[in-house]
Amino acid sequence: MLKIEDAKKTFLSGTPNERAALRKLNLTLNQGDFVTVVGSNGAGKSTLFNAVCGNFLLDEGRILLDGQDITFMPEHKRSRVIGRVFQDPMRGTAPHMTIEENLALSYSRSKKSPLRFAIRKSETQMFREYLSRFRMGLEDRMDAKVGLLSGGQRQVVTLLMCTMVSPKLLLLDEHTAALDPATAARVMEITKEIVEKDKLTTMMITHNLSAALETGNRTIMMDDGEIILDVSGEEREKMTLNGLLDMYSQKRRKQMDNDRMLLV
Ligand SMILES: Nc1ncnc2c1ncn2[C@@H]1O[C@H](COP(=O)(O)OP(=O)(O)OP(=O)(O)O)[C@@H](O)[C@H]1O
Ligand SMILES: [Mg+2]
Repeated sequence: MLKIEDAKKTFLSGTPNERAALRKLNLTLNQGDFVTVVGSNGAGKSTLFNAVCGNFLLDEGRILLDGQDITFMPEHKRSRVIGRVFQDPMRGTAPHMTIEENLALSYSRSKKSPLRFAIRKSETQMFREYLSRFRMGLEDRMDAKVGLLSGGQRQVVTLLMCTMVSPKLLLLDEHTAALDPATAARVMEITKEIVEKDKLTTMMITHNLSAALETGNRTIMMDDGEIILDVSGEEREKMTLNGLLDMYSQKRRKQMDNDRMLLV
């Protein structure tokens, strides 16, 4: 499905601030995998997502999606088949456009149809039904400018924009981290609902280690540009939070350093 081969990326190469962010990283995702990604600050988690999305080109290595080599495919083309939600609710939606206009824009983009300014009646109905599934009352606010919504509502709109037409890959970069606990829990429920219904191949970065072990079917841990742990199946079911931290300490001979880590 997604195959990353020997991906290498060094930032500020040749300067005193040189930083190896990905060190010959290899990762293969199976169709329908829901992988949680954990690791210390600066481990390279967001950089891994940036590499997959084409935010920069790799120094070395290859990225294949569904058998297609996308290593040199420009970011805007990849974004048609890769959905991404960031931590910051301000990203991902256009604040001066309404909920409906935002949905229509991403719908027409992922359908590869040319940009249209007229929204068809059938589409309005489809967007309304889609929004109502998530019971946040957004279906009654389709004419509201997205900039007026709460952070949680905006994250849900972004999530829907990314998944209305099933992406080949969904990338969630701490997408609930900026929300209050109750809203974060609701957005996580909605996320699971969407991923399960459409069997989306998904990677989710989280600093909540318990959530990482409870969500999805596989957990990878990154450190210093490498994947140092990749657990699934029975091994993962038996894994406890302390077990996870112990494995990190054993491999790296130090404690995990993550200032946003939630152990609950
Ligand atoms: N565009 C860039 N230019 C220079 N350095 C960068 C760039 N992007 C990332 N880095 C560096 O690469 C390393 C990995 O950063 P990354 O953002 O991937 O970490 P992370 O695992 O997402 O951490 P966090 O948990 O804090 O979000 C860091 O040292 C970071 O400073
Ligand atoms: Mg990050």
